[in-house]
Amino acid sequence: MRKVDCRSSDFLGTFCNVALSMVIVVFFAMTGRLHAQTQNSVTASDSTATRVMACTACHGERGQGSRDDYFPRLAGKPTGYLYNQLVAFRDGQRKYPPMNYLLAYLPDSYLREMADYFAAQQTPFPPLPKPDVGPQVLALGERLVLKGDDARHVPACIACHGASLTGMSPDIPGLLGLHSKYISAQLGATRFGTRVPIKPNCMQQLTTRLSEEDITAVSAYLSSLPAPANPAPAPAGSLKLALTCEGLETK
Ligand code: HEC
Ligand code: HEC
Repeated sequence: MRKVDCRSSDFLGTFCNVALSMVIVVFFAMTGRLHAQTQNSVTASDSTATRVMACTACHGERGQGSRDDYFPRLAGKPTGYLYNQLVAFRDGQRKYPPMNYLLAYLPDSYLREMADYFAAQQTPFPPLPKPDVGPQVLALGERLVLKGDDARHVPACIACHGASLTGMSPDIPGLLGLHSKYISAQLGATRFGTRVPIKPNCMQQLTTRLSEEDITAVSAYLSSLPAPANPAPAPAGSLKLALTCEGLETK
């Protein structure tokens, strides 16, 4: 079944707001139940699994992603990256109203637990739709991802996201298993400043050097790649980064 895209019309927007209110009610009911359960000494991992049920409707049962173009995979991404994103949604640096509402007022410790939970999930990569672009566009995407463009001071994406594009602990995400439309939306939002990375802020500077064509090309190329043989992010500090990223942690 195709999931409803909340952004496509006013009617669907209303529908999604209603659906979202229900998700939030269930979420907080579960959180309440969770406190009761904690007092009855239920293990921490059981309670986190219950708490993230409000998330899995959109992100997949184990965070594997969904068929919706805009609902990203979370499973196996570095925990520091996931945590930074949850803080950004809670505090408004990243905007998507359903997530902003869900996370508002949640303490850092809950966000940390949810980040740890999804980072620890090991689950297959669902197949992605084949990108609807020609071979020249894919070739441009491949060149930028693997080599960058020295003339325009665009570093290769693999310089930071890793040779196998599975990211680097603790803060740099993998770029595989994401739909082309999600990737281009994130690159666009970063370029126009509607997505503001808390730290490390590498992407803002970089995206201002990319044209619309570049963004279409890298997004299509990345989404055309097969699942990685080893999805684990590269160990912290194992890549020498191509740009100075403000606030980058390499612990
Ligand atoms: C109504 C659907 C929906 C629900 C429910 C939802 N999310 Fe999301 N989530 C999204 C969408 C859509 C995005 C991308 C938003 C954007 O464009 O920036 C996202 C982005 C994210 C990201 C950033 C991923 C990345 O790679 O940058 C994280 C982390 C995340 N969600 C975690 C959660 C958690 C944890 C919950 C439960 C508390 C949750 N989400 C509930 C739809 C949802
Ligand atoms: C200098 C290091 C660096 C380089 C080079 C780099 N990135 Fe990133 N990228 C990052 C960091 C750090 C983040 C996490 C930002 C945040 O926390 O929001 C990121 C995040 C992203 C995201 C968001 C992922 C998500 O799940 O929402 C995308 C998409 C992305 N980068 C694409 C690219 C592409 C395409 C290139 C090559 C053109 C590239 N990056 C080159 C460091 C880099």
